[in-house]
Amino acid sequence: MNRELRREYLAAMNLESWVVRAKPARVATNAATATTDAPRESDLDWPQLRARVAGCTRCALSATRTQTVFGVGDPKAQWLIVGEAPGAEEDRQGEPFVGRAGQLLNSMLRAIGLAREQVFIANVLKCRPPGNRDPAAQEVAECLPYLERQIALIRPKIMLAVGRIASQTLLRTDVPLGRLRRQVHYFGALKVPLVVTYHPAYLLRTPADKRKAWDDLKFAREVLARV
Ligand code: URA
Repeated sequence: MNRELRREYLAAMNLESWVVRAKPARVATNAATATTDAPRESDLDWPQLRARVAGCTRCALSATRTQTVFGVGDPKAQWLIVGEAPGAEEDRQGEPFVGRAGQLLNSMLRAIGLAREQVFIANVLKCRPPGNRDPAAQEVAECLPYLERQIALIRPKIMLAVGRIASQTLLRTDVPLGRLRRQVHYFGALKVPLVVTYHPAYLLRTPADKRKAWDDLKFAREVLARV
C-alpha cells in the first residue's frame, strides 16, 4: 500500500500516521540506581559515619532510644572491644560501657595494661533494646554495617568480642561462647584476629569465671604480640 493511500485509510478511521518516536529516557525506578541515593556505609569516613548513626531510623529502636551510642576511644586503636548493645546508662550518657559492667571492663583492660582511652569500644547495636532484651535478628542486620565500617576504618590489630551476642554475631555462628574461647578467629576480609571472652555483666553475676576471662585477655595480648 502506498503512503498516500495509507494516510487516507488512517484519516478515514480517525487515526494519525504512525511515526517512530525517540526512545524515552530511562527513568531510575529503584533505590540502587537513583542518583539521589545516599552513599553506602562502606563509602563513609569517620565523621560521616558518626552522623549517619546519629540520625539512623532503620529499625524501631530509634523510636525508644534517648540517643545513639556510636562508640568511644581512639579511632586508631590497636584494640577494638565489641559488646552487645547499650544499656540504660549508656543510652542516657551516649557512651558504651559506662555502667557497672563498664567499670569491670575498665578493670579488665587495666589488668592487661590498657587504659580505656587507648582502645576503641563499640557495640553490635548502636541503640538500646528496651528492657535490655536480646537484640532481634533484624536489628542486628540493620545495624551491623555501621560496626563493619568502624572496623574497616579503625583497622584494629586485635578484636575482643565480649559475650555471646557479640561473639556469635561477628563470627556468624551459633556455637556456644564456651567453645569459641581459647582460639584465634579472624574477622572479615581484613582477617583481623578476634578473641572471645565473657561479657562483664555475666562476670558480675558469675565472679568464679573471672579467672577464665583473665586467661582470655592474656591470650589476646599474646595474639597481638605475634601479629
Ligand atoms: N553491655 C554492652 O554490651 N554494651 C554496653 O555498652 C553496655 C553494656
